[in-house]
Amino acid sequence: MLSHARAVHSLSFARSSADGPKLESPPSPAGATEPSEGGNREVCGIIGYIGEREAVPILLEGLRRLEYRGYDSAGLAVQTGRGIVTRKLGGRVEGLATHLTRLPVHGTAGIAHTRWATHGAPTERNAHPHVDCQGQVALVHNGIIENSEALRAALERSGHRFYTETDTETLAHLIEEASGETLEARVIAALEHVEGTYGLAVISADEPDKIVVARRGSPVLLGIGNREFFVASDASAVLEHTRSVVYLDDGDVAVLTPRGYHVLDHDSQIQSRAVDAISWDLEALELGGYSHFMLKEIREQPETVQQTLRGRLLVDGYARLNGLNLPAEECTAIRRIVILACGTSWHAALVGRYLIEELARIPVVVEYASEYRHRTQLEVPGTLAIAISQSGETADTLEAMRVATKAGCRVLGIVNVVGSTIARQADGGIYLHAGPEIGVASTKAFTSQIVALALLALYLGRQRELSEDVARDLACRLSQLPDLIARTLELEPQILTIAERYAEAANVLYLGRGVNFPVALEGALKLKEISYIHAEGYPAAEMKHGPIALINPDMAVVCVAPHDDVYHKVVTNMQEVKARGGQIIAVTTAGRASVGGLAAHELRVPSTSPLLSPVLTVIPLQLLAYHIAVLRGCDVDRPRNLAKSVTVE
Ligand code: F6R
Repeated sequence: MLSHARAVHSLSFARSSADGPKLESPPSPAGATEPSEGGNREVCGIIGYIGEREAVPILLEGLRRLEYRGYDSAGLAVQTGRGIVTRKLGGRVEGLATHLTRLPVHGTAGIAHTRWATHGAPTERNAHPHVDCQGQVALVHNGIIENSEALRAALERSGHRFYTETDTETLAHLIEEASGETLEARVIAALEHVEGTYGLAVISADEPDKIVVARRGSPVLLGIGNREFFVASDASAVLEHTRSVVYLDDGDVAVLTPRGYHVLDHDSQIQSRAVDAISWDLEALELGGYSHFMLKEIREQPETVQQTLRGRLLVDGYARLNGLNLPAEECTAIRRIVILACGTSWHAALVGRYLIEELARIPVVVEYASEYRHRTQLEVPGTLAIAISQSGETADTLEAMRVATKAGCRVLGIVNVVGSTIARQADGGIYLHAGPEIGVASTKAFTSQIVALALLALYLGRQRELSEDVARDLACRLSQLPDLIARTLELEPQILTIAERYAEAANVLYLGRGVNFPVALEGALKLKEISYIHAEGYPAAEMKHGPIALINPDMAVVCVAPHDDVYHKVVTNMQEVKARGGQIIAVTTAGRASVGGLAAHELRVPSTSPLLSPVLTVIPLQLLAYHIAVLRGCDVDRPRNLAKSVTVE
């Protein structure tokens, strides 16, 4: 049986020492913090600065780097020496920057925010920072104050005037109302009344040399510079200035001044927190000559998959996954695996199911985290839960993890963002090491997630009954993937021609079968989210149970059909499409039979193990979606209504 004890251990998620220097330091011990209940957190970015330099350029640059997290309004507040001045606007950060050139603000301490609205329309009025009645306190907030209505009513009864429709404004009035000799004492007192989640940065005109920061359920880190300090919701906002960061734990309150920082717990006792180093370079956050992050990230995949693999494959087919915290005897006791994820990560999970069932012979169910969390969970003893998330912050996935934990499961995380909430709350796991993914549409995380799942399947398989021969072969195929991805990317000119042909399509159907059915789902998701063309992914054989009625000469049908044991079946499905006049774009295997007679366009990817083929077949679909969206004039990196990490339920 799996041990259900919640061990207090270091969640290393790390590479083995054989990899040379660790690319990242481990997050704080799992279990060191109480998970906060309720997963709602507004999807936004926070940056704050205190030091000797002008704050506004630093805040604006930080906001630009955070804009992928939310981009419907932005604002900042600065200590000017004559009180706090705020500037905010609906719309993008560039609008705020222009506004500030007309109405400049000077000072060496300030806080800023970019927002994706949950409570209240994305107007100037509702944009952060929010202030108290006297404009003495200003704050920026990620998260949701769940009891804001009750708090607001009580505060209004005691004479506070509200200016916005947001839950966040409540916090400014609560701090105004709170008693205490210092700003941090008032923040701690105010937060005692609050239900919900927050990543918070507060300034007060009474104490101009101070930023107070608090965290519960929404990520916050401190950037440690030389006589200057930062607060941010995301490491990307501070990397330009420092690599040294402190990831705050839930319940922490931190105080930043130009001279230093300290972290307090609920009882105002000073706590020590580790200083971690950010492992990636500034170039990872730059476009580097590309027109969009999405294209950069698609083209990075040979390197990012290599990074996911590095140091983890052993010659005898074993995978070395030191961060799993899953001893051999526990591997053999696993009876069932449940994978929890959303969106693209859910599609990777579906591929993972094939990998784990085939290689490790453990039954797998894949659940939408948002559905799983609302059902009564009757997990059988020996169930291992795996949460997959690029950002490590998706609210539904976090909540589903908690449900799985309560149901007695050990929970692993497959996560890209180091130090993220999911990574910290899992019992162990695998980091993708794919570097920051800035494009809102996930691409490189998907291929790295599949590779991480393949490594996990190998690891579990070798602890169970997987033969060394089969494992060695798969390990060899895995190690070839970076080169094969590079060759697949050479299809781009052909894909551009196809994109030109279908850029005005109204509907596109994506069909796939077996391990490539999730690729059909992922191809359809990529197209719809960035080009706004209606697209659906379907299991190829299910088409005849309904969707076939849609096929006519205007319908483009993307068929994912690499040469595997269901290839001939998918070819039959293609014939059914062709017979009804549908336009087929086929993704097949190079060097094998062509479907040139059936398909209007054929994209031939290199041959690999059928189980790993999704890593290659998805790449033409990512590029197709990208080029169609660009041709349609869509804002590829910031698709409408979307944000990079969905921290609301
Ligand atoms: C689609 C996309 C989303 C995410 C989903 C889960 O391109 O990016 O569907 O995959 O929001 O996000 P993570 O993986 O961060 O939990």
